[in-house]
Amino acid sequence: MADCGRGLQQVRDIIAAAHKDCSVLEKLQFYDQWATQYEELQRCGFTLFHGLDGSAGMLEVAKKKTLYQELKHGMLGHEQLPYDSDKYDAVIIVGALSDGQVPVSLLPELLRVSKAGGLVCMTTRSNTSNLKYKADLEEEMSSLQSKGFWEQVLVEEVEQWEKATSEKEIAKESDYISGVIYIYRKIPDPSTGS
Ligand SMILES: C[S@@+](CC[C@H](N)C(=O)[O-])C[C@H]1O[C@@H](n2cnc3c(N)ncnc32)[C@H](O)[C@@H]1O
Repeated sequence: MADCGRGLQQVRDIIAAAHKDCSVLEKLQFYDQWATQYEELQRCGFTLFHGLDGSAGMLEVAKKKTLYQELKHGMLGHEQLPYDSDKYDAVIIVGALSDGQVPVSLLPELLRVSKAGGLVCMTTRSNTSNLKYKADLEEEMSSLQSKGFWEQVLVEEVEQWEKATSEKEIAKESDYISGVIYIYRKIPDPSTGS
């Protein structure tokens, strides 16, 4: 991949923007802007844009962007990802690692499909009902790090992650729940170099 110093900051900005509190229309407008950044990412050396989701409706929305060369329907965390090992420069999962959605057991699969030196970018929520999931997620992240599979690049707490949808989740005076962005870099396997 070509050197692109702004790459990591771009990924951070994109993830933060995707979680801005706004209407569906505004969110889709955000994705239109993101489309031009995808092209910029291509100039940085990102050439493959593959997506997977369990919702056919969400895949239809993604398809209309005409950005992805490949979109697949599948259940994350319940089966092996339908991709070769050591394939991607960056693997991104936003808004799906949380209680009742994608199980923590997906993490080794995200690692498997990343190239050595590739980035795995993940997010989760810090609201009360997700705290047990978040603890399990972070335990799995630490376990993979202590086994030498990846290293932590960034953990960023985002106070106003998204609007709370229930009274119970409202903390202090804010209507928002908080969330976290994690970025890890895959460490090459010394025996294979990948
Ligand atoms: C909150 S949306 C986030 C969508 C998008 N990534 C974003 O940031 O706007 C969560 C997405 O995760 C998908 N999802 C949740 N659990 C899933 C699972 N186990 N397997 C596949 N997709 C799942 C849903 O279909 C939905 O598209």
